[in-house]
Amino acid sequence: MNPNRRPMIAGNWKMYKTLPEAKVFLTALLEQLNSISGEEAAGYPEVMICPNALTLPALAELQQQHALPRSISLRLAAQNMESKDEGAYTGEISPAMLKAVGIESTLIGHSERRQYYNETDETVNQKLQAALNHGILPVVCIGETLEQREAGQTDAVIAQQLETGLKDLTAEQLKPLVIAYEPVWAIGTGKVCEADEANRVCGVIRAWLKQHVSPACAEACRVLYGGSAKPENSEQLMSQPEIDGLLIGGASLKVDSFSVMIQHGRQPATCSR
Ligand code: PGA
Repeated sequence: MNPNRRPMIAGNWKMYKTLPEAKVFLTALLEQLNSISGEEAAGYPEVMICPNALTLPALAELQQQHALPRSISLRLAAQNMESKDEGAYTGEISPAMLKAVGIESTLIGHSERRQYYNETDETVNQKLQAALNHGILPVVCIGETLEQREAGQTDAVIAQQLETGLKDLTAEQLKPLVIAYEPVWAIGTGKVCEADEANRVCGVIRAWLKQHVSPACAEACRVLYGGSAKPENSEQLMSQPEIDGLLIGGASLKVDSFSVMIQHGRQPATCSR
């Protein structure tokens, strides 16, 4: 982690947890966060949870009932969002629909959306534009497949995903951007990318932003790692200078493991934010 960027620990619940289950989890997490004293709360990472869309309104209400210590931030986020404002798009959820229930963040282009629902770098770009136009914080997911890694194409794939995904967006617009580097071969497989290699690729992403967007954007943008992150490896991942946070699938489903990982996202007391 870097002292100039607030770390982010995000849980992607995928298609897990019914509304009652989600409420039990969130209540427990809010109670834990609530019990943190003001002094301890300094340096806490921003916490994000991406549950299924059906649960978002009720979870947003539940969250409002718990005032958290001032320096603790918990964001509820969608796992996906349509780029159009409204229209005949059966089954889709618009940016305005999310905002109307108090949701102001979303994942974009998760590899499972790309793999099973034909999302591409072009649709990522459309969704990213829509999110930024509506003031929704985007977490854009990119990463190479095993085949691409074995063919030595990792850095080129990342560059291509960024080039198309971020097309036509200015440095000013991209200010709030969060990127999640999630090597597809590490997602849900138990095969974590070694921390130094994850750090290297996150650095490649930042170097691309510096060259193609702006040095200020590269400095401000948070780059998360995701793919079989768990309490056993999260401390080491979070100690890497280019890794600003984690996007966690399986290990975010239990409050205990997620809480440990939140702890690993805390900045040392000497950090400025
Ligand atoms: P995993 O999933 O932690 O279960 O590998 C990560 C993700 O899909 O975001």
